[in-house]
Amino acid sequence: MNETLALLSSRRSVPPVALAAPGPDASQIETLLSLASRVPDHGKLAPWRFIIFEGAARARAGDIIAEAFAKLEPDAGATRIDAERKRFMAPLVVAVVSRAAPHAKIPLWEQELSAGAVCMNMLIAASAMGFGATWLTQWYAYDRSVLAQFGLSDQEKIAGFIHVGHSASVPEDRPRPALEQIVSRFPG
Ligand SMILES: Cc1cc2nc3c(=O)[nH]c(=O)nc-3n(C[C@H](O)[C@H](O)[C@H](O)COP(=O)(O)O)c2cc1C
Repeated sequence: MNETLALLSSRRSVPPVALAAPGPDASQIETLLSLASRVPDHGKLAPWRFIIFEGAARARAGDIIAEAFAKLEPDAGATRIDAERKRFMAPLVVAVVSRAAPHAKIPLWEQELSAGAVCMNMLIAASAMGFGATWLTQWYAYDRSVLAQFGLSDQEKIAGFIHVGHSASVPEDRPRPALEQIVSRFPG
């Protein structure tokens, strides 16, 4: 099996709690984002963009998330709110923002699929670079007050927050769908 196939058959998400420093450095982040953006994109619209959360920006993002959570759940205790504050604790978090918009020829769905491809490419590239990574959304990906503070316009959506860092080990694989349950053959 060649290296690419071996990577694809062994890649697994690593949860943010298991992602430690060092994360990617500036040149590795550039490589990661360049590779992530090499995806099929009908109409060459680049209907996505990135927001990098690194260093102190992660704590500031956590404060925004915790504040929004406290407003949504006024009865939540300090421990729960503090857990929300720690959402962006991996060394690097990249928001993949879908900026899909109505277009004369390219359906919105196809623009959104392209943003999903960006997220997947980023996971694969991060693994190939020796990092652990995971693709999460969580409730705040759908909270407009949080998104506005992250700098998204009302039309933009989060395709994913990609959490990246060093991981000492890769979790055991999980069960994968059995091909016989998802494959059919169109009759000739
Ligand atoms: C769009 C999208 C959003 C996700 N959001 C979450 C999430 O909010 N919370 C969560 O626990 N897992 C979420 N997941 C699933 C994680 O990425 C999960 O760890 C992943 O499915 C593991 O896949 P793997 O074993 O192939 O790496 C999401 C997956 C996708 C594709």
